[in-house]
Amino acid sequence: MTSYLLDVDTGIDDALALAYLAALPETEFVCVTATPGNVDAGQVARNTLALLELCGRPGVEVAIGAHGPLSIPLTTTPETHGPQGIGHAVLPEPAGRVSARNAVDLWVEHARARPGELTALITAPLTNFALALRQEPDLPDLLAGVVIMGGSFYHQGNTTPTAEWNTHVDPHAAKEVYAAYRGRPLAKLPIVCSLDTTERMELRPEHVRQLAEAAGAAPELVLPEQPEGLRSTSGNTLIRHLSDALRFYFEFHRLYDQGYLAHVHDFFAAGVAAGTLEYSVRPATVDVETDSALLMGTTVADYRGLWGAPPNARIVSGNNPGQAFRELVSAVGGLAWRVG
Ligand code: BDR
Ligand code: CA
Repeated sequence: MTSYLLDVDTGIDDALALAYLAALPETEFVCVTATPGNVDAGQVARNTLALLELCGRPGVEVAIGAHGPLSIPLTTTPETHGPQGIGHAVLPEPAGRVSARNAVDLWVEHARARPGELTALITAPLTNFALALRQEPDLPDLLAGVVIMGGSFYHQGNTTPTAEWNTHVDPHAAKEVYAAYRGRPLAKLPIVCSLDTTERMELRPEHVRQLAEAAGAAPELVLPEQPEGLRSTSGNTLIRHLSDALRFYFEFHRLYDQGYLAHVHDFFAAGVAAGTLEYSVRPATVDVETDSALLMGTTVADYRGLWGAPPNARIVSGNNPGQAFRELVSAVGGLAWRVG
């Protein structure tokens, strides 16, 4: 069993990460918290609740913490994830309510109550996590492990030429998080899934077709020649929503000359946290630029000890997209088959 403290900014690829983890029988969602990023915190929380319900996981506590980054105004990205954050999909109103508790308090409380048991996965800006580390500086010892989707090292950024979205939204939070991990034992250092390897996770129309097939649903064709915004008519609710979400993500990536495909960053990070996907890591000292207008939010990795500072992160250096997509299709296709 893996028990998660999950922080998301749902988000198309966050949605896929949630569906993937929900599909694994050995997943316990201790709580899922919302950081503003792709959309505002309220919308993140509603999307997350609705998705968990669609995935057969009602009743998970979903809470909001920060409503904006630590030191700069919030930017959201409807052009990347659609007006509600789920692309062309319009999710049903969730039956459950967003928790009245504060996300940061929840993280600290659960981590203290179950020392060494909980895995933290953050697929959003690091705002809530930085606040949790302020409140409980022993959090790195209390958690079983931490996986972060964020950063871009020897790879171009996806927000500025050098900066990745999650880190760019709240660079000050990211800087604080990496500083908090200085001097910690290697086994406790966050595993960082940066664009260097998450952009190898190219989900394509063929994978949507395979998902529908694994779900026992009618053939699901999302094709580049179809009109933009065409909605799925699948009789399988989960497949229909994922298909509508992914079509939007394909259209967005095509607009930026990356092809009719989608980089599913957060799904990869979820698989790393679950221990189901193949990957390798390299220790490094990571820091984040917060002063330069030109390089704001740029992550820098020192792999050679040139700064004379100990490693504070384990950066994913290799992964296996073929294995990852086979796992995704089998797990999420199976879930869609079960929940209909
Ligand atoms: C990250 O930014 C967000 O838009 C995605 O959900 C992912 O977490 C990729 O840079
Ligand atoms: Ca995300």
